[in-house]
Amino acid sequence: MRPIHLVLLTLAVITSDTVAQVVNVTCSTGLYPPDPKSKVTETYVIDLDLPPSQRWNELAKAKRFQMQSLVDSFITFLEDFGTIGQDIVNLIDKEGVDLLNGLPVTFAEEIRGISLASGMNIGQVVLYNLFYEFSDFCTSIISEDLSGELFHARNLDFGLFFGWDIKNKTWEMTEKLRPLIVMLDWRRNGQTVFKSVSYAGYTGILTAVKPKLFTLTINERGDKHGSGYIGILKWLLGDRNETWLGFLTRNVLENASGFTQAKTMLENTVMLAPAYFILGGNKSGEGVVITRDRVDNLDTWTMRNASIWYILETNYDHWNPPPFIDDRRTPAHTCMQKMGQINVGFSGLFNVLSTRPVLNKGTTYTALMRVSTGQLETYIQNCQDPCPPW
Ligand SMILES: *[C@@H]1O[C@H](CO)[C@@H](O)[C@H](O)[C@H]1NC(C)=O
Ligand SMILES: *[C@@H]1O[C@H](CO)[C@@H](O)[C@H](O)[C@H]1NC(C)=O
Ligand SMILES: *[C@@H]1O[C@H](CO)[C@@H](O)[C@H](O)[C@H]1NC(C)=O
Ligand SMILES: *[C@@H]1O[C@H](CO)[C@@H](O)[C@H](O)[C@H]1NC(C)=O
Ligand SMILES: *[C@@H]1O[C@H](CO)[C@@H](O)[C@H](O)[C@H]1NC(C)=O
Ligand SMILES: *[C@@H]1O[C@H](CO)[C@@H](O)[C@H](O)[C@H]1NC(C)=O
Repeated sequence: MRPIHLVLLTLAVITSDTVAQVVNVTCSTGLYPPDPKSKVTETYVIDLDLPPSQRWNELAKAKRFQMQSLVDSFITFLEDFGTIGQDIVNLIDKEGVDLLNGLPVTFAEEIRGISLASGMNIGQVVLYNLFYEFSDFCTSIISEDLSGELFHARNLDFGLFFGWDIKNKTWEMTEKLRPLIVMLDWRRNGQTVFKSVSYAGYTGILTAVKPKLFTLTINERGDKHGSGYIGILKWLLGDRNETWLGFLTRNVLENASGFTQAKTMLENTVMLAPAYFILGGNKSGEGVVITRDRVDNLDTWTMRNASIWYILETNYDHWNPPPFIDDRRTPAHTCMQKMGQINVGFSGLFNVLSTRPVLNKGTTYTALMRVSTGQLETYIQNCQDPCPPW
């Protein structure tokens, strides 16, 4: 059956068809380590010493069919969305290579390289990269064990509201995203500078660890003004002053020499879309959630002021209650408290993040990071029924 693409229609179908959010939370236990088949092992080296146009060759060649499939769905979604969507699609076809004009040279060249290696046209690769600048619903947690060692974990829920497949009870886009998940090892002078989990072909960073220094995850933040869509539209229409999330996060991972510098950069750069930055350092207490508007830093919330030994963020400002239709925050807190600081580690955090509705139909992966050793483990998640849609 052809998926339904209209958002409102989608919501109506879901609420009538599927059990609403789980009220009683049953915290998962004993799920770590999960089936080794779910572990993401496909790894690509991104060599920062290569010219930008060549860095993505191997990956873009290997993943070109999956990338094209995702961008095709996204374009279908936009076309179904009405005039605005159609305008965006036309613009991308028409402008093509001109879209690279406003981009920093590094990114323009990387996108050109991805386009050449994958056979996708440049406009589509730009659109593909913009796609990741919004629409990630997620849960991120930084916590410290009794010795003060920090662990940072996250679920990345992506592709929600892009086409609910009624028969399979899945999100069309989410299904297409899972095969794109890869591990990236970013190197300079043959040495790892940082490691990330990524959807192949996205040049920015959503989840990464800079060993011994800091860890970073990005959660989407909607705002009253239509979230990231406006910024993206403005950018496409020629206002190229603002920074893509991807440029900022890459700059932070490539260039920040520690937690404090990373924090300052994340607090101060004007962006295309609002966001939450969840940043962990390598010292006890070094965990913050930075709540960003496109222009201003609204709030920097510290671990000590949050829950003392951990800090947790979904997709809502921490000073407001989450909306009742999407409360993943309360269940996550319940399970963190139940786990206790004594159990902080990959196993405990994986269980918390595998608890419904923290885990839901939009969850593509769970990532676990240990900054002191630079470990980053990623597991594909495929929430089995009964499972909430988000
Ligand atoms: C939640 O669980 C408790 C104890 O198992 C039960 O008494 C209660 O009825 C449940 N509430 C809902 C809404 O299912
Ligand atoms: C990072 O944290 C670990 C564990 O807390 C500690 O042993 C190590 O010395 C720290 N490394 C740096 C560079 O601060
Ligand atoms: C629905 O699930 C079936 C069985 O897993 C699969 O063959 C089919 O392609 C899915 N449909 C869509 C639209 O993803
Ligand atoms: C973009 O930046 C330039 C130079 O800083 C400025 O002249 C221009 O007004 C800005 N455009 C918008 C739409 O803010
Ligand atoms: C990192 O810093 C260098 C030197 O300032 C700069 O040229 C480069 O563009 C930065 N990297 C990113 C991704 O912004
Ligand atoms: C923590 O909260 C207290 C009381 O609300 C406030 O005075 C203090 O500045 C906060 N500390 C940090 C580091 O944000």
